[in-house]
Amino acid sequence: MRLRDCHNFHDFRRLARRRLPGPIFDYIDGAADDEVTHRRNTASFERCDLVPNVLRGVEHIDMSVTVLGQKLAMPIYCSPTALQRLFHHTGERAVAAAAAKYGTMFGVSSLGTVSLEELRKAHDTPQVYQFYYHRDRSLNRAMMQRAKEAGVQVMMLTVDSITGGNRERDKRTGFSIPFRLTLAGMYQFGIKPAWGINYLTHERFKLPQLDQHVDMGSGALSISKYFTEMLDPSMNWDDVAEMVRLWNGQFCLKGVMSVADARRAVEIGCTGIVLSNHGGRQLDGSRAPFDQLAEIVDAVGDRIDVIMDGGIQRGTHVLKALSLGAKAVGVGRYYLYPLAAAGQAGVERALDLMRSELERGMKLMGCTAINQLSRENLRFR
Ligand code: LAC
Repeated sequence: MRLRDCHNFHDFRRLARRRLPGPIFDYIDGAADDEVTHRRNTASFERCDLVPNVLRGVEHIDMSVTVLGQKLAMPIYCSPTALQRLFHHTGERAVAAAAAKYGTMFGVSSLGTVSLEELRKAHDTPQVYQFYYHRDRSLNRAMMQRAKEAGVQVMMLTVDSITGGNRERDKRTGFSIPFRLTLAGMYQFGIKPAWGINYLTHERFKLPQLDQHVDMGSGALSISKYFTEMLDPSMNWDDVAEMVRLWNGQFCLKGVMSVADARRAVEIGCTGIVLSNHGGRQLDGSRAPFDQLAEIVDAVGDRIDVIMDGGIQRGTHVLKALSLGAKAVGVGRYYLYPLAAAGQAGVERALDLMRSELERGMKLMGCTAINQLSRENLRFR
């Protein structure tokens, strides 16, 4: 199977599975507990049908949106995800370049493997900085200052990871950074030698957003350990209100799910919220963002940009979310599998397929601009 044989999310996933050592594939693919929420994120779109209009003259389609003060050529963006260098040696560089080519926004994680400064210099396309709130307050201030100086447009604070999710696949494989593997995990690396050779012959793995603060030499850092030991479980609304004031720009909370919290985000001056359950990787059993979207849009949609992520595999999923009132939609695994499968060419192919699906979907829906999508176009079963 080659890149040109990939026509959708499932094809990219299959190719990524073939290329990656099992523990790394499972880190991307896996979620918390029984992975119920992860499955439901996509399934939630199936309870909702599109109702198209016809005969509306759909020769020219404008898919651009403005969200968090940024103009995007299409209504999806690459959500920040961690550790991309592990999936392909070009990591964040490939994702940022592909996002720039398609005129959309990309995210850089606190746990990113390329520095936000390098990516900011390389591309004009808007950048989101995904922020984790650490116990060490001076580290938080220093990280914000750095992002400000680099010219990052949007601060995105993750609020659904106050402690590590129970990722049982990672426990089984012993996934950690740098690798400290169980015997089963070592076997998995052994049967993917091409990945291993590629990994060893390219740039060393780094966490440039954090490396002055996290000692990577003294043993393995599991994601769950990072969450549990370094992040601050006492983080509250007052702390975030202070961050919003300090940042003094586009500030978005990622992982808001309740109406009460959405209202609070407005009150403290956030400019956006992302409805998200972290791809089902944190609280299993939590609701799918798409199921929760209408309620949140009705409560705060006129005062703050409501965005969602989770489970997006198709252009029609995006169109459903936009019809309910989301301003834009984030994707994660949707670009990570192609990144793992084929680097920048893979991410570009995935974004290209998404763009075609969106354009085709809009034509078939009888819409020439995103603001023509409305709840009139949806019926729930
Ligand atoms: C994860 C974190 C790092 O889901 O975002 O693994």
